[in-house]
Amino acid sequence: VKLGKSVVVAMAAVALVASSALAADMSDLRNEALDHFAPLPSTPVFKEGNRPNDAKITLGRMLFFDARLSKSNVFSCNSCHNLGTGGVDNNSFSTGHRWQVGGRNAPTVFNASLHIAQFWDGRAADVEAQAVGPELNPVEMGATEALIMERLASIPAYVKLFSDAFPEQRKPLRYENVGAAIGAFERTLLTPSAFDAYLNGNESALSGKEKKGLAAFMNVGCVNCHNGVAVGGNSYQVFGAVNQPENLADKGRFDVTGKEEDLHVFKVPSLRNIELTYPYFNDGSVWELEKAVKIMGWTQLGEKLSDKQIDEIVAFLGSLTGVAESYDLPTLPPSTAKTPRPDRN
Ligand code: HEC
Ligand code: HEC
Repeated sequence: VKLGKSVVVAMAAVALVASSALAADMSDLRNEALDHFAPLPSTPVFKEGNRPNDAKITLGRMLFFDARLSKSNVFSCNSCHNLGTGGVDNNSFSTGHRWQVGGRNAPTVFNASLHIAQFWDGRAADVEAQAVGPELNPVEMGATEALIMERLASIPAYVKLFSDAFPEQRKPLRYENVGAAIGAFERTLLTPSAFDAYLNGNESALSGKEKKGLAAFMNVGCVNCHNGVAVGGNSYQVFGAVNQPENLADKGRFDVTGKEEDLHVFKVPSLRNIELTYPYFNDGSVWELEKAVKIMGWTQLGEKLSDKQIDEIVAFLGSLTGVAESYDLPTLPPSTAKTPRPDRN
């Protein structure tokens, strides 16, 4: 078949219009996404009054991995927030001092510094304030301030690091500074992902299926609660906004504020790295991401999502899995004769 020149030109024009319509669709999706989300900052955001320096980040990293912050010398922050497994322990509830089991699922420390507050119920203001708690929690690390400070003071390398990390202070070896150093380190735990590359302008960073999932995530309304730079982490919402979840025992923020309207209200979790941070929900009761998405559709939106929608949303959520900036596994300084020994009781 021989086509006339004008027909060929017309067909080319149609193809051109079609492809630019597609391109417009694609950047429309990205523009819509940019109304709701933001890429991770390219450098960590530190706290006013807790300026970082190299010694402070090094110290914070060491303390994060040092089980001598626990009474038994068995538990470190990394026991429950394993940086090799998405910053969690992949357990419904965590095991701590004397193999006691806590009552809430451990959330990830990756990107946690970007949340409005810390914990499922938001009871700590920021990562610095949070990081002085677990050491003293009887079911987590089981120690006391005095024990920890005695241990640290007995290890010359730590004494020097505290001085270098807090050069402006006359008495740098203080318990509060354990939190300041760990908090500063935690602020470096950001995990840029394919979704960030996409938001930053690389249209091909997401696959077609991931884009469909992103569109569904916005269209069905997940984005009403899971939005912003952490795709969550920035508001408090009731679990069971439309329909009751099964077996919801946890009272959430009610236990913090005592207000009736805070019953079963939780900080909306960040969905960054969600495919790594199973099991899901405050009680770690759901192990499959598909199932968690299905439950959310029903409890939060009153929607019975189709298998196809769930499949696409899960694909999109996979694009939120990021790569942590390389953090070296620290070599911890040895204890001395003066260091209080581990106590398992
Ligand atoms: C025995 C396990 C365990 C240990 C050890 C532990 N944590 Fe946690 N962590 C948890 C659990 C469980 C929660 C959630 C508790 C809640 O919300 O009430 C949590 C919450 C957090 C959060 C809040 C994250 C968010 O999204 O709200 C941060 C940050 C954190 N831990 C950091 C640390 C640091 C730093 C250490 C070491 C000093 C530490 N944790 C030690 C189990 C542990
Ligand atoms: C009305 C607010 C709201 C909406 C809408 C919403 N969520 Fe949630 N989401 C929450 C809250 C609150 C939690 C924490 C529930 C709990 O206490 O475990 C949560 C938890 C989750 C979790 C588990 C996170 C974890 O770390 O365990 C996933 C996954 C999730 N949501 C995905 C979605 C998806 C996908 C949609 C849309 C189908 C959606 N959410 C809609 C508020 C919401």
